[in-house]
Amino acid sequence: MITVLIGPPGAGKGTQADLLVEQLGYTKFSTGDVLRKHIKEKTPVGILAGDIMAGGGLVSDDILLEIIKVELDRASKEKILLDGYPRNLLQAAALGDLPYKICDVVHIDVGRSDLIGRLSGRRVCSSCGSPFHVTANKPKKDGVCDKCGGQLVQRPDDAADKVAVRLDVYDSMTKPVLDYYQDRGLYRRVDGSGDPMRVFEGVRSALGC
Ligand code: AP5
Repeated sequence: MITVLIGPPGAGKGTQADLLVEQLGYTKFSTGDVLRKHIKEKTPVGILAGDIMAGGGLVSDDILLEIIKVELDRASKEKILLDGYPRNLLQAAALGDLPYKICDVVHIDVGRSDLIGRLSGRRVCSSCGSPFHVTANKPKKDGVCDKCGGQLVQRPDDAADKVAVRLDVYDSMTKPVLDYYQDRGLYRRVDGSGDPMRVFEGVRSALGC
């Protein structure tokens, strides 16, 4: 059973995914995290994906489908959470062809000006990838991850010019996926503004299975 978390860059998908893992026992797959691991390990996929991600574009659909198949094959078939896939109509169709039931597609909806503030202030753990924010979600100790003690850094694609590209890519490529799932009765909208725990209550009530 798959739940898809979908939303623009900075909507809080990663933050909410971590809460769903901790509090409701989901197994999470973040395609962004998997790709960043490839880049760190300098694998062939990482070498192909590095420049595209740093520029704010989408990595090839073939690479992503391969990644998602491998990740899903490894998992139990219960309570899987996808963060970052699908991101265009072709990926949505490819996911529909895999032997997994999609329960819900939860859209975390946040306005563009809030997204820019969130991404410019985001810091991520260089070791475990957990997201923090310089004002909205501060770590207990400056520059240090609460979860694993790793160093907090800024993601290269959080630079202002790259954020603009990512938001435009979301509008043109990913927004049509919302209609695709609305047509299939799977779409749930959650207001992603306000405190992360308040958003989490919205996400929790949107889950149908
Ligand atoms: P990915 O890593 O998936 O990035 P993204 O979709 O741009 O989303 P972000 O990680 O930036 O934001 P988020 O929604 O997870 O927000 P977060 O919780 O961190 O993908 C990166 C790249 O990989 C893509 O650009 C593409 O190149 C490639 N890629 C990945 N998947 C792909 C695919 N399927 N096909 C092709 N290419 C693919 O929160 C953001 C900040 O806000 C944090 O600082 C957080 O602390 C703060 N925050 C969270 N919630 C709140 C709140 N409620 N109020 C205030 N602040 C909050």
